Formats: sequence, C-alpha cells, structure tokens
Amino acid sequence: MKVIIVNSYEEGAKVAADIIEGIVRENPACTLGLATGSSPVGMYKELARRCANEGLDFSAVHSVNLDEYVGLTPDHPQSYRYFMDSNLFDHINIKKENTYVAKGIDDPAANLAEFNAVLAKSDVAVQVLGIGPDGHLGFNEPGDTLHDHAYMETLDESTIEANARFFASKDEVPKAAFTMGMGDILRARKLLLIISGNKQEAATKLLVKEAIDPHCPATFMRLHRDATVIIEKKLADEIGYKG
Ligand code: GLP
Repeated sequence: MKVIIVNSYEEGAKVAADIIEGIVRENPACTLGLATGSSPVGMYKELARRCANEGLDFSAVHSVNLDEYVGLTPDHPQSYRYFMDSNLFDHINIKKENTYVAKGIDDPAANLAEFNAVLAKSDVAVQVLGIGPDGHLGFNEPGDTLHDHAYMETLDESTIEANARFFASKDEVPKAAFTMGMGDILRARKLLLIISGNKQEAATKLLVKEAIDPHCPATFMRLHRDATVIIEKKLADEIGYKG
C-alpha cells in the first residue's frame, strides 16, 4: 500500500482530489466508486471547485456508491443519495442518471439484485473509501467471514453510535444497510482510503500490525495491488506509524 502522510484534513482533500482528477482526465468516461461520511467531504468540495474553475469535466463520468441505509427515502437528509447529491453531484456537471446509489426503500431483495447487477457491469476505476472506527469499509462490519458481493448488513452497535451524530437521536439511526461486499471493493482498479477522525484502533491494525483480519475488514486492502491511504500526520504519529 502507498501511504501518504498529510499535515491537515484540507491537504488530504487536495491530494485525494489530485488522484481523482488524474483518473478523470485520463479517462473522461470512467466509473468512480464513491463513499459518504465526513472523510471525503473536503475532497468533494475541492473536485467541485476544480469543475467550476478549472474545467474538470464529469459529463461522461459514471459513479456507483458503496452503500445506503435500509429504510431511508432518497430525499431523507441522512440518506446517502441525499448526501451525494448535496455534497457532490449538485455541484459538478455529472449527469444524475449516470450516478447510482442503492435504493433504501421498497423491496430489499429487488434493491440488492439491482445493486449487484450495476456492480457486475461496472469497471470501477477507483473506489473512494472512509474507514469506520471498527475497521469497516462501506458497511462491511467485522466478523468471522466477509462478503464477496453486495448484501444487507446489520449495523454494529459501535457503528450506530459513531453515525448517531448525524441524526436527531441514536434511535433514528437505521439498523441495517445495503453495502458493496468486500469482493466488490477489492475488484476496483484502485483503492483510495482517506483516514480522518478518531480511527486509532483501525488505523493501527491497517498500517502498523501485520494480520489480514476479517475482524478489521480494512486490513484486506493490503491484498490490493494499487491501494493508497491518506492519513494525517497527527494520527500517524499517535499510532506510531513509521512508514
Ligand atoms: C459510515 C460509512 C462508511 C464510512 C464511515 C466513516 O459508516 N458507511 O463508508 O467510511 O461511516 O465515516 P466518517 O468518514 O464520517 O468517519
């Protein structure tokens, strides 16, 4: 894995945007795998700025998102469809019909079948990732085994607690989500993980320890031939990452 240590969240956002920009300029019709959470927000802002001011063109780009909460309508402010529209798609010239976020409502089996069909025909140039405090990627929660394809995950208590900050109360956080499987994530041509926030334990398992452990799903990134991790210096120092 390539690890890039940055001095601030803002610097990380720019470095990540450089990577996405390079991919889009090289292949303007690429498919981007996108993520929600606070970690990629700065990168999305920077990409929107480059689209508005520097001619970065998303008009032929497709996208597919990592995950979506079960039970939230697309216009619910905490749905990941709403997040993607308000943090990125409404601010760049991507065609909405070329963006895919799994459906959170109606028939779960049909939603999953559709999600898996989209993934099966997508050649994802880069998968953007954040990391959960428990080491989850997308919503692939720690366990004895991981999933190859998209599935419905029951969220861990720690994930519900970590995401409660976005809801009026913990009780309003959905208990389940649709997520790409770990296999889907690893099939992307490139992985780009932005580590931000209190992720000491997960970051230690990913960057300092050696085990590839389904109880910390992010460690599977080490099996990928082209994985980049962006981490702030403060956190890298805290976990004793030496490079
Ligand atoms: C959620 C998302 C993950 C994301 C994680 C971390 O659980 N499903 O994809 O990586 O949050 O979020 P944040 O970047 O806000 O720390």
